[in-house]
Amino acid sequence: MINLTYDDIQLVPGYSEISSRKNIDLKTKITTRFDLQMPLVAAPMGTVCDFAMANEMRKMGGVGCLHRFMSIGEQESVIKKLVASRTEDHINMPIMAAVGANGDFFERAQALIQSGAEIVLIDVAHGHHKNVKDAIEKIKTIKSSVDVIAGNIATAKAAIDLQNWGADALRVGVGGGSLCTTRIKTGFGVPNVTCLTEILKVANVPVIADGGIRTSGDISKALALGASTVMLGSLLAGTEEAPGLLIQKNNGLYKKYSGAASFDTKVTYGQEIRNIEGESTIISYKGKLDMVVSSLLDGVKSALSYAGANNLKEFRPEYIQITNSGINEAKPHLI
Ligand code: XMP
Repeated sequence: MINLTYDDIQLVPGYSEISSRKNIDLKTKITTRFDLQMPLVAAPMGTVCDFAMANEMRKMGGVGCLHRFMSIGEQESVIKKLVASRTEDHINMPIMAAVGANGDFFERAQALIQSGAEIVLIDVAHGHHKNVKDAIEKIKTIKSSVDVIAGNIATAKAAIDLQNWGADALRVGVGGGSLCTTRIKTGFGVPNVTCLTEILKVANVPVIADGGIRTSGDISKALALGASTVMLGSLLAGTEEAPGLLIQKNNGLYKKYSGAASFDTKVTYGQEIRNIEGESTIISYKGKLDMVVSSLLDGVKSALSYAGANNLKEFRPEYIQITNSGINEAKPHLI
């Protein structure tokens, strides 16, 4: 069997009666109980999602997952700030935060939930693990109305297990993120399209496609396969709302983008310098998040119109496998 990723496939246009992309509805679910107005989720990374990102994503109908690389007190105070800044406009967008699966994770989850977090994401690289089973069970005892997202996983077997353990959504993708070195360091991972396809055959809770999404075309491919949302790191890093200072270079402005398991993140947050499985880089400053998000959503709405789909439920176009020549043809290629 050939295992595929986003560049290996192309969606096939279908009959359409969509008269205006403005009428296309991108409503979706982040977990079994919580809805979003659009399918984008900011990744729980120190250089992607702190207060400003989570707050702005929420205003636009999406969600940001507050990263966990801070003390419990600090994370708690960000959640309280998010609760306090809730307005009628985004009253229904959930508040979401990450915890680990060992150490202080239970106290952290308790503090976050008491402060107003409605979704807790168990943020571990290998989610098909007994620690995750135990963590889901324990977090579920804190408050029944809180949804738990578990991952990351790459197989149908893992999806079935996590669902049986009580996960309310699955975070899917192993080693495919733009800064990941997991596949190089360990040899493990499954290309994203195959990984999503296999998991979506058995998923009965929403699937979050995570890692390796570089364009609105990739977002559209993940949604077309049946993912309910996509989680974005590099596409949102470098925006005004991403944490971190602007870095001035001769050729322009930048911000840092560091893998959650990178040397840089471990040094920044005073963690033990072991098990480095991520890179760190600087990324061009992109300006305000709303401009970046609207442009991504324009691309996704356009994709739905190519498929004749009014909403994400209807968006199940056929896809085909392409060759390297197809990949070259897909990019601007004027000689
Ligand atoms: P993108 O491609 O959107 O990916 O930048 C974001 C996702 O990458 C994962 N991630 C990591 N994976 N080592 C890894 O192996 C890391 O240091 C690392 N940091 C982030 C994570 O799933 C994130 O959502």
